[in-house]
Amino acid sequence: MAVLPWRGSMADAAGKMVTRRSFLGSAIKIAGLWTIITAGLSRNAFAANLETDIKTWAARIQEESARLRAGAITDARWRDALDELTAHIAIEDVLQAIDFNRLKTETPFAEKGVSTARVALPGFNGKRLAFTSKIFAIGPGRAIIPHGHENMISAHLVLDGEMRLRQYDKLAREHNTLLIEPSVDKIIGPGAISSISLTGDNIHWMTTETGAWTLDIILTNINEKAEKAYDIFNLDMDAAAPSAGGALRAPIIGVADALRKYG
Ligand SMILES: [Fe+2]
Repeated sequence: MAVLPWRGSMADAAGKMVTRRSFLGSAIKIAGLWTIITAGLSRNAFAANLETDIKTWAARIQEESARLRAGAITDARWRDALDELTAHIAIEDVLQAIDFNRLKTETPFAEKGVSTARVALPGFNGKRLAFTSKIFAIGPGRAIIPHGHENMISAHLVLDGEMRLRQYDKLAREHNTLLIEPSVDKIIGPGAISSISLTGDNIHWMTTETGAWTLDIILTNINEKAEKAYDIFNLDMDAAAPSAGGALRAPIIGVADALRKYG
């Protein structure tokens, strides 16, 4: 609030002359009161907007996911859409909308790997959706073990904690190995979203020292005519052999071995 320069004195309602100091004191009190009132008003308006924002965000994810299933957009466009949509929300609002504190308590860390639980996003009231959403809880020193996907895409939104994210493009499947190429290696934190397409960045591996939680938006059965609704291949990255052009040939291993080695 702008305060005009005060020159001299003026009369108050009772006709008393008020000094510059007392006038400014009153002005500041009024300004303070106004700030409190407007803060209260904007908080309420803000809270309502937040709810609308997160509902709209979830509704738009549903819309884009349905479009993908209908063949109207590609998996690459779906990833871009989720990036764009998520750039306009605050992670704190997502936490509030999904009751993250309760979910955290109800989803304790697993001894190895991750623990997961279904999460309902606001605004759908049990409606059938084109995606499923889950919370992933990854304990300190634990990991979302390195794995690739078949006939599914997903996007992890980091809710809390920091993770090292590694991703790889899937070039080809060769018997019991995947031919992959490194594409991402970075530290990500709350608000970051990391997605995969059917081939690009399709393999991911997330490790955390602090402990971390993500919200995963998952679409399986992209090709309804495929033999399996989806498949997941755990990879032995330590045993990956270098191949031409910086690619790696990573052996596919069972989940128990993968958890023992990387979980
Ligand atoms: Fe995955």
